[in-house]
Amino acid sequence: MKDYLIVGSGLFGSVFAHEANKRGKKCLVIDKRNHLGGNVYCENIAGIQVHKYGAHIFHTNDEAIWQYVNQFVKFNNYVNSPVALAKGKLYNLPFNMNTFYQLWGVKTPAEAAEKLQHQIEQYGVPNPQNLEEQALSLVGKDIYDILIKEYTEKQWGKKATELPSFIIKRLPVRFRFDNNYFNDRFQGIPIGGYNGLINGLLDGIETLTDADYFADRTYYDNLAEKVVYTGKIDEYFAYEFGQLEYRSLRFETELLNQPNYQGNAVINYNDADIPFTRIIEHKHFEFGTQEKTVITREYPQNWTPEKEAYYPVNDDKNQRIYKQYRTKADTIEKVIFGGRLAEYRYYDMHQVIASALKTVKNEFQNQ
Ligand code: FDA
Repeated sequence: MKDYLIVGSGLFGSVFAHEANKRGKKCLVIDKRNHLGGNVYCENIAGIQVHKYGAHIFHTNDEAIWQYVNQFVKFNNYVNSPVALAKGKLYNLPFNMNTFYQLWGVKTPAEAAEKLQHQIEQYGVPNPQNLEEQALSLVGKDIYDILIKEYTEKQWGKKATELPSFIIKRLPVRFRFDNNYFNDRFQGIPIGGYNGLINGLLDGIETLTDADYFADRTYYDNLAEKVVYTGKIDEYFAYEFGQLEYRSLRFETELLNQPNYQGNAVINYNDADIPFTRIIEHKHFEFGTQEKTVITREYPQNWTPEKEAYYPVNDDKNQRIYKQYRTKADTIEKVIFGGRLAEYRYYDMHQVIASALKTVKNEFQNQ
């Protein structure tokens, strides 16, 4: 008999398993996919680590989390500096002095701030009712038209005027020539890919892939004293309060016979007439020098149950449904629900690790 059956080998399940194992607990980690690691899994194509479930850049401000992951794998010094292609021109992101120069030709922070202020005064509205009004009020019309509108509409499959304003709470602008997308102190990509992190976490722990918990729930439940469940919470309860909705993505990956396709790991495609939102060139995450390159086009799509669930739809209807599941989950003593699917929320990697470590602390508080 195991102490814990862990359903899902993503970061939440793997961190929990590692910490439980360290405390002498016997664990079995199962995953319905044919590999471990959940959405951070990398596939080796022509010697390049391909982020199979979308680009993953590790970043955190929390030194303890940074040290935690660095126990298992070394990180390189990759800094995310995406570029956007819009109406035939390239723009640096996030919005910074380079972007303002590319948009307006302004050369000093004072000129840029004045231009931005003028745009906001001209196009902003006092009480924004939708995403379009919100964006116009935060950055004005030029940035909205060129760098936000069409990209966001592709991403969500809806008109910006039909999207709620809360999707864009803030639009940070930076009056420095600084293309580093994140503000965090620590950032990088694991050298050799994320599988090294997962293998380190799961070292010495029994694992089983191609194993769907729901294929034989009673069998799996009987293997352990307790279950850590990181799959979809609505599926756990057989959808009794209804199905939670997601936004999905389709990835189209290609191996190209050339060393460098786009010169950057991430290029956003903003225009409405291009159906994908980004092209990822994976080798640039690791400063690869291979003769070939691998690119992935990312197409946002509506979610249906047979597709991968990527982004929870954070509206009132879904939150109401989630709360019902959560209330019921809280009454089940022998099951711990955690991670992005069981908590129906978007977590960055550092956040899901922090959440798993907090769960570990609660679970083993007397040990
Ligand atoms: P995850 O989904 O990784 O793991 C859950 C596992 O449970 C899966 O392996 C699944 O197969 C398994 N499972 C589910 N049901 C099961 C069942 N019935 N039986 C057995 N197994 C089952 N974060 C960041 O910090 N920087 C970034 O750049 C990005 N980029 C990014 C891009 C995209 C497109 C997305 C969608 C997300 C990101 N993230 C990110 C977020 C990151 O992916 C996320 O924080 C972690 O993957 C969450 O780990 P979990 O363990 O919660 O879930």
